[in-house]
Amino acid sequence: MTDTNTTDSRRITIFDTTLRDGEQSPGASMNLAEKMEIAQALVTLGVDVIEAGFPIASPGDFESVREIAQSVRGVQICGLARCREADIDRAWEALKSAQQPRIHVFLATSAIHREFKLKMDKDAIIHHAVAGVKRAVGYCGNVEFSPEDAARTEPDFLCQVVEAAIAAGATTVNIPDTVGYATPTHMGRVIQTLRNRVPNIDKAVISIHCHNDLGMAVANSLAAVEAGAGQIECTINGLGERAGNCSLEEVVMALRTRSDFYHAHTNVNTRRLVPTSRLVANVTGIHVQRNKAIVGQNAFAHEAGIHQDGMLKERTTYEIMLPEDVGFATTELVLGKHSGRAALAARIKALGYSLGNEQIQQVFELFKVLADKKKEIYDADIAALIEQEMRQVPELWSFVSYEVTSATGRIPIAKLRLRRGHQETATEVIGGDGPVDAVFLAIEQLTGFTVSCRDFNVHSVTVGKDAQGEVMVQIEHEKQVYRGRGVSTDSIEASARAFLNAVNKIAAVTVPNTKTVTPNP
Ligand code: KIV
Ligand code: ZN
Repeated sequence: MTDTNTTDSRRITIFDTTLRDGEQSPGASMNLAEKMEIAQALVTLGVDVIEAGFPIASPGDFESVREIAQSVRGVQICGLARCREADIDRAWEALKSAQQPRIHVFLATSAIHREFKLKMDKDAIIHHAVAGVKRAVGYCGNVEFSPEDAARTEPDFLCQVVEAAIAAGATTVNIPDTVGYATPTHMGRVIQTLRNRVPNIDKAVISIHCHNDLGMAVANSLAAVEAGAGQIECTINGLGERAGNCSLEEVVMALRTRSDFYHAHTNVNTRRLVPTSRLVANVTGIHVQRNKAIVGQNAFAHEAGIHQDGMLKERTTYEIMLPEDVGFATTELVLGKHSGRAALAARIKALGYSLGNEQIQQVFELFKVLADKKKEIYDADIAALIEQEMRQVPELWSFVSYEVTSATGRIPIAKLRLRRGHQETATEVIGGDGPVDAVFLAIEQLTGFTVSCRDFNVHSVTVGKDAQGEVMVQIEHEKQVYRGRGVSTDSIEASARAFLNAVNKIAAVTVPNTKTVTPNP
């Protein structure tokens, strides 16, 4: 569904950089298959441009930009490059088979960057910026130029650089607040200054790219739109360097909900916001906080009696958006052990997933096992089961059972049973600094992989004592980081499953002939 589009409403281009700036979030690196899945989801969401990566940064980045450019259609695919010949050539090499390619070149312009990082004077910056844009234009007509750290660049110089980049052929000029320093009034003024003082500004689209160090990325992006920017650079769940980038779901819903004020709209199908947010959270292992605007679990929950009373009398007393408009299912229908496959299938569809019959059957089997342990099954439980089912990796080992003896001041003892193919193997380990660590050691012993645990995160999928625990782990093996996820009403089992899931990912790339094993429910 396209947002409100009245005659005086401007169409704002949504440039998604989850796969580039978002991936620069610590711990958010993604493999090729994950990037492809997210790119497809972004097309379904209705973004206009996907920044797929920084091709010169690594062979992996190059490969993923090339794959996405080759197979993702109906959207512009963009690759990032510094204003250097080798970068631009590499970016084009990756992008050349895209249906609608865009090269994005950048060069820092602020005094701090000029003096300390680049050691270039203003003339040299203009010279390199122009040369970079011209080289990119030699390959494709769709070129974006970013003066990095624009928000801290002297306004006169920023105007000069932007004018020169447009004269050299840039069709989009992006204004980054690289360090999240701007405020909304400041950002609005920067855009206004460019519009007033750059003579050829109407030959390019003005774009905005805000970081969230002071928590103002969305507000600053909206101020830029108010001042005339026509493109917003943003990421799903606000992922990105340090405190992240402007959150796509927030900025899109702000434009939509306050179209009376901004007189602007996007092409985003807002009903896909929650499913896309869930996908990115599951792929990256970076969860959104419960009270996150738009996609957080509490974003539409009303707890206070006065609010609930108001909602029952008239929804709009306390709700400015409809939960279903952002992709939450209309009612929290609670399922339980007597619910059938058809009820579950309907719920899966309402949650925005499209699964085939076989996948529904597999989720149903997991659902039945869960319903035996847990009286009420909520939407978040179902989403967790689906993610578990859909994100299966080829499993060399599958979890069978564990037993741990642990007490304060005692060394834990873990017994673990895993299955490899048709064979079960078991071990007993005495060690570790707690029951979870002991189980991890047992997994290392049975699988033969020694890893270091970089991150371990548990959160409850829903509320209540019997809620499922979802564990995300990141482990490192031979300088590569692997993520694993496990869900269970038993948090030690969830931890074991998450750790094993990550170890299976190592096995998938290091052990020949790794076969997919049907997961143990
Ligand atoms: O934050 C930034 O300045 C960037 C540029 C490369 C656009 O990400
Ligand atoms: Zn950035």
